[in-house]
Amino acid sequence: MNASRFAVDLSARGLLYAIANDRIHAPLPLDAEKNWQLWTEPKSALLQLLSRAYPPKSLRVAYLNEMLDSDHSQGIEAHYDISNDFYALFLDSKYRFYTCAEFKNDTETLEQAQTNKAQYLLSLLKLDGDEKILDLGCGWGAMLRFLQDTGHRGELTGFTLSKEQKIYACEQLDLNVSLTDFITHDFKPAAYDRILSIGSLEHVRPNELEQLYQKTYDALVPGGLAVHQFFSLVREAYPTSMVTIQLFFPGSLLVMHHTHIAAAERAGFKITHDSIHDYRPTLRAWYERLVANQAQALELVGLEIFNRYMTFFPLSWLFFQQHEAELHRIVMAKPA
Ligand SMILES: C[S@@+](CC[C@H](N)C(=O)[O-])C[C@H]1O[C@@H](n2cnc3c(N)ncnc32)[C@H](O)[C@@H]1O
Repeated sequence: MNASRFAVDLSARGLLYAIANDRIHAPLPLDAEKNWQLWTEPKSALLQLLSRAYPPKSLRVAYLNEMLDSDHSQGIEAHYDISNDFYALFLDSKYRFYTCAEFKNDTETLEQAQTNKAQYLLSLLKLDGDEKILDLGCGWGAMLRFLQDTGHRGELTGFTLSKEQKIYACEQLDLNVSLTDFITHDFKPAAYDRILSIGSLEHVRPNELEQLYQKTYDALVPGGLAVHQFFSLVREAYPTSMVTIQLFFPGSLLVMHHTHIAAAERAGFKITHDSIHDYRPTLRAWYERLVANQAQALELVGLEIFNRYMTFFPLSWLFFQQHEAELHRIVMAKPA
């Protein structure tokens, strides 16, 4: 352990940040079993209280607001532009979804579970086949490809901020994906029949939410639908978990769920579906695949990034286990 870094992290960022940062910089690959247990075994009430109460809210708000001054694309590049081949080692081999899947039982594969999720979202989209669909934050084009596979004929467009994802989606999959920031983009009015997002509203900062819902509302035709899958905070705004998450998503800050709903309703949307789903089995599945592909991962991205993801998955599992946030699938309808 680097005692001085740990001490500085502990006093400035709190207990979980200090432990996570220490493990990310471990001199050897983290032991799969012990590492998973460290984060996921039940914690005492005192430890939970300590890790939630420190740093105090004023310090958290000051630090997070400073992080939010950074450009969106920097945070996205830091997380996503590592290596497409690295992500392929642990994501489902069929579509490369980097978002919560839907495991119906313990024996299903990640590939099946991601297809279940895509089918669920497809049912929410209520398509006839010719709709113009925009995927906000389309990643490696997973949902666009799933829509193609189901025979969708209408125009499909994807936005991402990751250069690596764009290259993969355009050059390998021949999809219509552009490097477009959906926060600053000037949407044309009534340009789409459906707007979709899976796992990208988490990157929208509290002060950008209102405007984004208004812009997407205006970009939909009357009677159009927005279908979003994202997780949002349950307990409090600016929690300590968001300080720790800066190690993995610099410049991102989750928003309270009721704030999402209120902003969408103010834009004019009617919420017609809101279901809650469990992210933990997906995080466990990604972890197992990363562990199984340790040698290749180390070769592709080196020790620090390997240990970073070995820390990220169980820490995120703990985040959902402790009910810090919930994963929602939501349909927002623009009245006809
Ligand atoms: C967790 S990934 C999810 C990708 C994909 N939807 C999936 O299910 O695998 C989040 C995606 O949101 C994109 N994203 C985040 N903020 C964005 C922004 N402001 N503009 C465009 N894309 C953004 C990232 O580039 C990334 O593709």
